[in-house]
Amino acid sequence: MGRIAYVNGRFVPHGEAMVHIEDRGYQLADAVYEVWALFGGKLADPEGHFARLKRSLGELSIDMPMSRAALTLVLKEAVRRNRVLNGLVYLQVSRGVAPRDHAFPNPPVRPAVVITVSRTDLAASEARAAKGVGVVTTPENRWGRCDIKTVGLLPNALAKQKARAAGAVEAWFVDDLGFVTEGASSNAWIVDADGRLRTRDTNANILRGVTRLTLLDVIRAEGLEVEERPFTPADALAAQEAFITGAGSLVLPVVTVDGRPVGDGKVGPVAARLRRLYIEQAKATAI
Ligand code: PDD
Repeated sequence: MGRIAYVNGRFVPHGEAMVHIEDRGYQLADAVYEVWALFGGKLADPEGHFARLKRSLGELSIDMPMSRAALTLVLKEAVRRNRVLNGLVYLQVSRGVAPRDHAFPNPPVRPAVVITVSRTDLAASEARAAKGVGVVTTPENRWGRCDIKTVGLLPNALAKQKARAAGAVEAWFVDDLGFVTEGASSNAWIVDADGRLRTRDTNANILRGVTRLTLLDVIRAEGLEVEERPFTPADALAAQEAFITGAGSLVLPVVTVDGRPVGDGKVGPVAARLRRLYIEQAKATAI
């Protein structure tokens, strides 16, 4: 059975799914998105992702395209039609279709909605987590509103390509003060030399990762020490462990930064345990 996408009210074969050439997401990156991990066909961390979607749209004065209840139904129907149990569901909402003009269309047009579903190879993703991945660093060059989850991802795409070309999986942006902000599509963490967990605070110009937020709860429930405080690539190299979080990566151990080993260069016990605990928690609360 082929993949099915949702485009503006209709389920269509993935290969035939199209948006208009004057969709403002296509021409101006005037659109936001959300990505939910799927466990057993259910949406992980629903609260966090819906709340962030609402906030991203609100910051750009784009209307919610439908109620949360209706959107949940459509997302779940898209997952069901694709028969995906473990994977990702992607939602994109643009300001809509209008003759090209940088300013918003007046009167406003209806937001345009696209949903796609993809399958994850669980064995491959567990194997990758067991081995750990490499990251490269790259200068922070994004705009000042990375807290909004927009589709304006060119710096992220270029950074990810730099990682790929170096045989790494993620790129960490490093700001002018030398601190890691976040990954191209994930948040960054270390277990510092003293065994304390550390991730950047959300006053910084980063996405408020939903996986990050759930993991902070998991960590506190486990009674582990955690600080929301910046770290440098040198701190990461001197750390015991490092890892990244995101709907795609879940909790993924990092074993090298710019080709140099983090700690002993092997996946550490904390990241491995937090991955397990996060997945348990996400499965238990998925809808
Ligand atoms: N990326 N930072 C950035 C820049 C991201 O793009 C993402 C997610 C995250 C982690 O956020 P969350 O835990 O809410 O997934 C952090 C998604 C998965 C993507 O672009 O595909």
